Amino acid sequence: MKSFIVAISGASGSIYGLRLVEELLKSVENIYLCISGPAFSIIKIETGVDWAGKSDAETEKNIRQFYSSDKIKYFGENNLAAPVSSGSFLTGGMFVVPCSMKTLSGIANGYANNLIERAADVVLKEGRKLILAPREMPFNSIHLENMLKLSRMGAKIAPPVPAFYQRPKDIDEIVDFVTGKILDSAGVMHNLFKRWE
Ligand SMILES: Cc1cc2nc3c(=O)[nH]c(=O)nc-3n(C[C@H](O)[C@H](O)[C@H](O)COP(=O)(O)O)c2cc1C
Repeated sequence: MKSFIVAISGASGSIYGLRLVEELLKSVENIYLCISGPAFSIIKIETGVDWAGKSDAETEKNIRQFYSSDKIKYFGENNLAAPVSSGSFLTGGMFVVPCSMKTLSGIANGYANNLIERAADVVLKEGRKLILAPREMPFNSIHLENMLKLSRMGAKIAPPVPAFYQRPKDIDEIVDFVTGKILDSAGVMHNLFKRWE
C-alpha cells in the first residue's frame, strides 16, 4: 500500500479533487493533503463544503470528519517544513487536482513558493509520479508551453476532460469517469467506470 500527496489548487473542478481523495482512501495507506487558499473558497462555492479551520490542525479535523478517515494528513500551503517538502520522505507520487494555471506555472518553472509547488518540485526531482489536472478554457500559449515542459519532464497531464461514449446519466458519472482516468494515470486501481471492451 502506497501513500500519495494530493493537492487541490484554486481552479474550477474542485469536485474532482474531493472525489479523488474519497476513492484513493480505499487503496492507500495515507494521503498527504495540501489545499491552496483560493481552493478553499472555490471548494465552498462549487460544492458547499467548508473545510477551512482557524489552524491547520482544525482544518485536518474537519477533513477527517468529512471523510470519516484518519488516513488523511493535512498540511497548510505555507508549511514548507512539512515532510513532503523533502525528497527523503517517500511517497508513491503526487496528484494536483484541479491544477490552476498559476500552480501549473509555479511547478513548470521550479518556483517552489508554497507547499504544493515545493512538493511537486521534489516529486519531479526524485523521478516519482506527478499527475496534473490543469483546468482553464481556453488555454493560452503560456499554459500550453508549461504543460509541454512538464510533460517532457515526465509529468502526466490529465486535464479534466470528460468523454461521452459511456453515456453518463448525471454529473456524478462524469466526475467518476474523469477521476477514474486521473487514477489510471498513476496506475491506481479503481471501479469508477466500466472499461471499454
Ligand atoms: C470561482 C473561481 C474559479 C476559478 N477557476 C480557475 C480555473 O479554472 N483555472 C485557473 O487557472 N484559475 C482559476 N481561478 C483563478 C485562481 O484561483 C487564481 O489564479 C489563484 O491565484 C490560483 O492560486 P493557487 O494556484 O495557489 O490555488 C478561479 C478563481 C475563482 C474565484
